[in-house]
Amino acid sequence: MYNNIFDSHAHYDDEKFDEDRDSLLASLPDSGISAVISCGVDIESSKFNIELAEKYEYIYSAVGFHPLNLESLSPNYIDDIRSLAAHPKVVAIGEIGLDYHYEKESRLLQLEVLRNQILLANELSLPVIIHDRESHVDILNILKELKPRGVVHCFSGSPEMAKDILKIGMYIGLGGSVTFKNAVKPKEVAKILPEDKILLETDCPYMAPIPFRGQRNDSSLIPYVAEEIATIRGCNAEDILKISDKNARTLFAI
Ligand code: NI
Repeated sequence: MYNNIFDSHAHYDDEKFDEDRDSLLASLPDSGISAVISCGVDIESSKFNIELAEKYEYIYSAVGFHPLNLESLSPNYIDDIRSLAAHPKVVAIGEIGLDYHYEKESRLLQLEVLRNQILLANELSLPVIIHDRESHVDILNILKELKPRGVVHCFSGSPEMAKDILKIGMYIGLGGSVTFKNAVKPKEVAKILPEDKILLETDCPYMAPIPFRGQRNDSSLIPYVAEEIATIRGCNAEDILKISDKNARTLFAI
């Protein structure tokens, strides 16, 4: 069994956990999970994740608007996020970012909401958790300009893009996609990342690693990701788990 499993990106508020959420979350520490950041995608889900963080000692929460969840945006959304972020177990602003795969037409609104949330994170001295889907250039430009601390999660870019992200001091989150057979870029990125910038994550309930691809994911499957990264880098999965746990605790000040 592995220990030091820090899941830096989960969505335990998701309805796919409705049936067995409490029994699953009660069992994760026994599977070696040391901490989880459960990320909001709008105000309601952020509140739900804060409730989970109040209930389970090892769970922490991130609050914010995901680019695909802007339909419930109110005029006061920044004030709403600011007040949620005052909770002692909120350790980041996230999941925030850009998604041009599903929502190209709302690009200008996405950019404005992302910018406002990064500025809030900077004001509160909190890190950001960034979603980037087919929006690498705009993400890079806004991160270069506003210089938040944080992580680009479920990194899907090239090794060149990874180097640009590293240059501005951010972490890179690796999850189930590293284990997919056709995932050339994530494997290359896993190879070149400096040790002190690696975070592990699930993005659960999605992105389950091989051999569970397509099934519901949870934090107990992170060792499959750690084993794949260890194979690529020629080290032990225990080392990858330990390093990622240490890095996440540094970034999220846990
Ligand atoms: Ni996510």
